Amino acid sequence: MAEPVRTAVFPVAGLGTRFLPATKVLPKEMLPVVDKPLIHYAVAEALEAGIEEIVLVIGPAKSLTEDYFKGAPALERALAERGKKAEIVAVSEDLPAPQKLSFVRQEEPLGLGHAVWCARQYAAGGPFAVVLPDDLILARPGCLRQMMEVYAALGGNLVATEDVPREHTNRYGILDVVEDDGRLARARGLVEKPDPAQAPSTLSIIGRYILQPDVFEHLDKQERGAGGEIQLTDAMAATIGDVPFHGLRFAGRRFDCGGKLGFIEANLAFALERQDLAPGVRDFLKGYG
Ligand code: G1P
Repeated sequence: MAEPVRTAVFPVAGLGTRFLPATKVLPKEMLPVVDKPLIHYAVAEALEAGIEEIVLVIGPAKSLTEDYFKGAPALERALAERGKKAEIVAVSEDLPAPQKLSFVRQEEPLGLGHAVWCARQYAAGGPFAVVLPDDLILARPGCLRQMMEVYAALGGNLVATEDVPREHTNRYGILDVVEDDGRLARARGLVEKPDPAQAPSTLSIIGRYILQPDVFEHLDKQERGAGGEIQLTDAMAATIGDVPFHGLRFAGRRFDCGGKLGFIEANLAFALERQDLAPGVRDFLKGYG
């Protein structure tokens, strides 16, 4: 049986340049889809998967994100006085207890691998998860929970995967696949953002990972990869051979909220899941046929 995964790391130190000017003051992970920030969806997904310790890797000036996870006693009192029960639930549900939440600062944007490395004091004690809140996933059960079930049987390193059009391989980590049953693929290598012509497959890494702590041995070397950044993909690739590497085609829909189109689509899809909003949204969408 694979050792249980208790810790999840959320790298959110990016500059969010694709969402300027909003991200001039608002960290990208705080952008709301319908009425909840991206980071709240990501943390809720991890808690649902049984994660106990949450580690947020934030940039030098991200106090808003820290504030969001603090209790809001004055607001809750004001809501209680007004009898706003649903709103009290909304501000407190799916959030970790304060003692289960840690913040680490990534002082320089040196890449995803570096961001994960910054969390090593919390994550290196056993297998851990990494969740990228930009990849918002609509799934029941959640994507990380689906992965936990597969991981319990397989162990090793496991990532969420999706097939992408070949012309998009240069946006993702791509698996070099040796075995594939249509749901689970085993990889013998990984390449970060390959040109379409060189990509070993079109199976891409989506922002959910379950990793063995050995990956820190490679991250410790601080080697630069694609784009001059320290890449998590390269560190994972270096462990193949020591530990098996699998990609899971999860059941659900993923929205790339790192870009505007994906973010807009996520807002529509999540609104259409809500009974209080779906009829109104369907109604106004008719006007955009
Ligand atoms: C990161 C990873 C990449 C992965 C992607 C998923 O890239 O480096 O391997 O496919 O997340 O969203 P980024 O989107 O940060 O450029």
